[in-house]
Amino acid sequence: MKTGEFTFTMIKPTAVRLGKLVPILHEINLAGFNVVAMKMTRLSRLQAEKFYEIHNDKPFFEDLVSFMSSGPVLAAVLRKENAVSEFRKLIGNTNPQNAEEGTIRKKFAISVQENAIHGSDSDENALKESCFFFSQFEIFPH
Ligand code: RTP
Ligand code: MG
Repeated sequence: MKTGEFTFTMIKPTAVRLGKLVPILHEINLAGFNVVAMKMTRLSRLQAEKFYEIHNDKPFFEDLVSFMSSGPVLAAVLRKENAVSEFRKLIGNTNPQNAEEGTIRKKFAISVQENAIHGSDSDENALKESCFFFSQFEIFPH
């Protein structure tokens, strides 16, 4: 897969628990993203700490790690031109109160923490995060 053509996403525990997994995947599909890797899994505390280590000095870090390891998530690698920025547009602002109408977080997030979905913020992190969850044999670019 070429840099710039893919991003990594995770549907977060609350959204999975509330039955929003398929509705969110539907939005992603309608926006023209193709799934090239996908798994449902549950992060350990250690894995959640590692995934969000960039935030380990933030006041919300402990809560974030507890939340992200509180139940299953759906992890996926998505393909589209300009995937990272296109996907950040689709999911909307971190805080659902500031998210634009029609975005996934506007529709499905319940708070700034339980904001339904993660999207990589750079091509470099898209690669790092995809490799965190998937081996090269679990990604099927087409
Ligand atoms: P994400 O990494 O999950 O896609 O979210 P993001 O880029 O929009 O936001 P980021 O600043 O990277 O924050 C990561 C996640 O931490 C939680 N958070 N809680 N309580 C708070 O003030 C707060 N701020 C951020 C959210 O779950 C956010 O998505
Ligand atoms: Mg982020």
